[in-house]
Amino acid sequence: MAILDGIRRVGVIGAGQMGRGIAQLAAAHGFSVTLADIGRDIAERGRAAVGQQLAKLVEKNKLGADVAAQTLARIEPCDLYGGELEAVDFVVEAATEDVATKREIFATLDRACRGGVVLATNTSSISITAIGAAVKRPDRVIGMHFMNPPPIMKLVEIIRGLATADGTYETTRALAERLGKQTVLSRDISGFIVNRVLMPMLNEACFALYEGIGSVEDMDVAIQLGLKHPMGPFSLMDLIGLDTALAILEVLHRDLGDPKYRPCPLLRQYVAAGWLGRKSGRGFYHCPPTAQTSGPIRTEETR
Ligand SMILES: NC(=O)c1ccc[n+]([C@@H]2O[C@H](COP(=O)([O-])OP(=O)(O)OC[C@H]3O[C@@H](n4cnc5c(N)ncnc54)[C@H](O)[C@@H]3O)[C@@H](O)[C@H]2O)c1
Repeated sequence: MAILDGIRRVGVIGAGQMGRGIAQLAAAHGFSVTLADIGRDIAERGRAAVGQQLAKLVEKNKLGADVAAQTLARIEPCDLYGGELEAVDFVVEAATEDVATKREIFATLDRACRGGVVLATNTSSISITAIGAAVKRPDRVIGMHFMNPPPIMKLVEIIRGLATADGTYETTRALAERLGKQTVLSRDISGFIVNRVLMPMLNEACFALYEGIGSVEDMDVAIQLGLKHPMGPFSLMDLIGLDTALAILEVLHRDLGDPKYRPCPLLRQYVAAGWLGRKSGRGFYHCPPTAQTSGPIRTEETR
């Protein structure tokens, strides 16, 4: 794919669960990766978490120890504000789902990255056009929405902002395909395709719990077995992060202006309590940090 010839180093901004997964995926496909967060220590923790994921694959004989070591060696942690982004050829931003945060990051990237470098965002819901308005190169800004976890899930949703150039779209699609993904194209309307459909369902599950229709376990089993979903809604929200789920619903509610997207008060309460799901050790279930990839363990009482 000649279109990708100039792309050797991918910058990943945000070393949380999505940033780590995107860094792992890109490194596994031979790209050098600069993994940046608000401090080098956070980026280093993100890299260490990738190391743990790779070690698990080695343990299960799904990956050779030498390949795991080479993959991890391609990931370099850095401080976003430390002036280390000149060498990147393509950026995927995967920081907190907040429009002001993303606009500030994109303004920083615009100053730090070479002209012409594509600045993609992994946002779940925020307007690509609004993020693009924060930079002098809105034609190079695009949505590149990986699913969780990025090394495993096959889909990447691509979202063109109002100003996104054809070349930016072609490069992003080619990169997603090089990473082994199937792409779909969405218009730049809040939530795009996946979260426009998924989030109202998850919110409705919260309202159903709020009304006492069933327990967390029973509703998860009902949706898993009754609708053949791989995970129930509460297990899925624990995986996504309740703070991220709430942030996405707030974007849908505000931007689309329809009361049907009003976030359930129970979800707000859990987030206020710091019960964010696997990332904090507790959400709808107790989720021990050591069991990130295994199923959740039901708490005694979470209502
Ligand atoms: N969680 C999911 O299932 C999922 C799926 C698809 C897309 N996304 C999107 O990916 C993005 C990240 O989500 P996540 O689940 O990884 O969140 P997370 O909370 O696990 O990680 C967010 C990271 O962003 C960092 N960050 C915050 N402000 C920053 C800044 N100014 N500069 C650099 N880094 C900063 C934080 O330190 C943290 O490491 C969000 O936009 C989210 O909507 C999430």
